[in-house]
Amino acid sequence: MGSVRENGLGAANLRLVGAPSLSLDSDELARDYERISATRQFQSGQRLAAELGIVPGERVLDLGCGTGLLAEHISDLVGPQGSVVGIDPLPLRIELARSKQRPNLSFEVGDAFHLDMLQDSSFDVVIMNAVFHWLPEKTRPLLECARVLHPGGRVGIGTMLKGHRTRVHQIASKVLSEPPFDRFPRPRAQLTFPVDAEEMRAFFEMTGFSALLIEVRESTRMWPSPEAAISFSEASSFGNFLGHLPPELKARARVTIRQRLQNLMTADGIIHHGRRLVAIAARR
Ligand SMILES: C[S@@+](CC[C@H](N)C(=O)[O-])C[C@H]1O[C@@H](n2cnc3c(N)ncnc32)[C@H](O)[C@@H]1O
Repeated sequence: MGSVRENGLGAANLRLVGAPSLSLDSDELARDYERISATRQFQSGQRLAAELGIVPGERVLDLGCGTGLLAEHISDLVGPQGSVVGIDPLPLRIELARSKQRPNLSFEVGDAFHLDMLQDSSFDVVIMNAVFHWLPEKTRPLLECARVLHPGGRVGIGTMLKGHRTRVHQIASKVLSEPPFDRFPRPRAQLTFPVDAEEMRAFFEMTGFSALLIEVRESTRMWPSPEAAISFSEASSFGNFLGHLPPELKARARVTIRQRLQNLMTADGIIHHGRRLVAIAARR
């Protein structure tokens, strides 16, 4: 047990095979994410916050808050009588988030698997926007959410839908399966751990939540250029997109993926029509 605890994730880590690396982030990726997510994840996060019906005075945990854009927005919704805590395991993203700190808004480095620093029943709402698919195991983080929420508290999740990879990721996987990149295979075929609507319902049931909304939604994405699509994938995966490759191959893979993506370019950029999952539940 002692040696398991030393690696920072405790017993849960025994199950985290293929978990994304949290040590590939950089200042540049964090700044890119802040810029690119403003017209993407931030917008779907604002809709999720609205659907959660967050009102002034509530205490909100933004779990996997990234650079804090959504947490900042929610701190306006809850007003001076409420409070928002943003938690993310990436120190460089929390550093950027802290520039948004206010009396009712704070940020900490932390992990959804271990919210030990947060007291039981101390929040009204937990929001996880574009985070759930990064969690290799779902019950432990949901149990932690249930613990920090009071009975009746809500959790809101906006996430990738299982079976709906973007065309950018499909092309990247194909490139990475070819020589010379195939000499360095990823530990798993896919980087993320998305679930479908039924699985989401089952996870809520198992962890003490009653589902209020589980919905698959159409989602259209646009990247103005192949380069923009690659930058987005690198920033939103905190370096995991090509992070398994040695530096010289990483540069080559970028060039090859860029060339293949060129075939998808339309007058409006690269368009992907996909689907995503939105789920809201109340703690029983
Ligand atoms: C695509 S970003 C979303 C950031 C933010 N929620 C937003 O709406 O822009 C995914 C975030 O999930 C975080 N993440 C990954 N693994 C996590 C974990 N085990 N616990 C908490 N957050 C995690 C990453 O550090 C990253 O900031």
